Amino acid sequence: MAKILVTGGAGYIGSHTIVELIENGYEVVSADNYINSIPLTYERIEVITGVKVPYYEVDLVDLDALKVIFREHPDIKGIIHFGALKSVPDSVANPSFCFDNNNISTNNIAICAEEFDVKNIIFSSSCSVYGNVMPEDLPVTEDTPLKNAESPYAYTKQNGEVMLRFISNVRDINAICLRYFNPVGAHVSGELGELPSKRVNNLVPVITQAAAGVRPHFTVFGDNWNTRDGSCIRDYIHVTDIADAHVKGIALQLAGKTKGNYDIINLGSGDGVSVFEAIQAFEKACGIKAPYEVGPRRDGDVETIYSNPKKAEMVLGWTPKYGIEDMMASAWKWQLKLAELGLAKEKL
Ligand code: WQD
Repeated sequence: MAKILVTGGAGYIGSHTIVELIENGYEVVSADNYINSIPLTYERIEVITGVKVPYYEVDLVDLDALKVIFREHPDIKGIIHFGALKSVPDSVANPSFCFDNNNISTNNIAICAEEFDVKNIIFSSSCSVYGNVMPEDLPVTEDTPLKNAESPYAYTKQNGEVMLRFISNVRDINAICLRYFNPVGAHVSGELGELPSKRVNNLVPVITQAAAGVRPHFTVFGDNWNTRDGSCIRDYIHVTDIADAHVKGIALQLAGKTKGNYDIINLGSGDGVSVFEAIQAFEKACGIKAPYEVGPRRDGDVETIYSNPKKAEMVLGWTPKYGIEDMMASAWKWQLKLAELGLAKEKL
């Protein structure tokens, strides 16, 4: 089976995708600079798959260092490009670092694909490209017009999609941009989950940390939004469902069955879940309270966003397998494993 380069392979979605790629018979090489991950992730992948994934510690912004991977693996047939800074609040606080890191790395991946004749790229995009969607535009489809990015992170995802559209127009490169909604949860085995090297900002890990007592409580960022219960609404999707969609995407490209050389596909469940509903789902699925306080809104947050997942079903033959309570139960199982591994301490 083909060899695939996964950038950000030690990261949350990257590592889960490596597991699914291996389980579907692919050979994998990983590149990561551990800016928000740790190499231990590769051991967790081996626990599940029995495979030692060859990996490189490389900053994707360093083009010369990146080229070494392609020289040493001339049989790479596809690139799944996850390597990016993903935190909305961190990008608001440090815009230029986010622009540099995310945009230059995407361009470097495309430069390598052209130079080393790799014809397939899957780009990790995000629902944040839609901006602050109006209620009448929900659920969003791939044709929903993009509004202004609400954060530098979102802007780099809009940028990455456009860069690859222009490049795939004039090069023998097929690009599929997968717009994730909110990836959450952990591998059902409980042997792999998010292993960030920095403090977590996302809702589900802060819920599990609060429930585990790793932090005294977490803050709900606003209960005065114009939604059914006052808290923001998101489309949560299990990380393994997201990983599965990438395997289907790369298979479509390798089989030469894509329509044209560029596409955009939403990866969401199609269900909108509020923050308070997510908390209730956690407490129901795991039988434990997650202590929280309500605080002010967070910069960069959009009020409501959820997807119309029809195109993913039609083009990829993909539909999510896991529901919100499965997501929460798997996240909690991973939080308990982190404690067992002595890794549960919150990063400051
Ligand atoms: C979800 C909701 C917060 C933390 C994510 C990823 C981003 C991209 C888009 C894939 C929001 C609320 C959160 C907390 C809270 N995904 N919240 N208290 O901001 O939607 O972005 O999805 O590319 O990479 O970060 O996710 O989990 O941070 O927030 O109330 O302590 O939970 O306000 O409404 P977000 P999130």
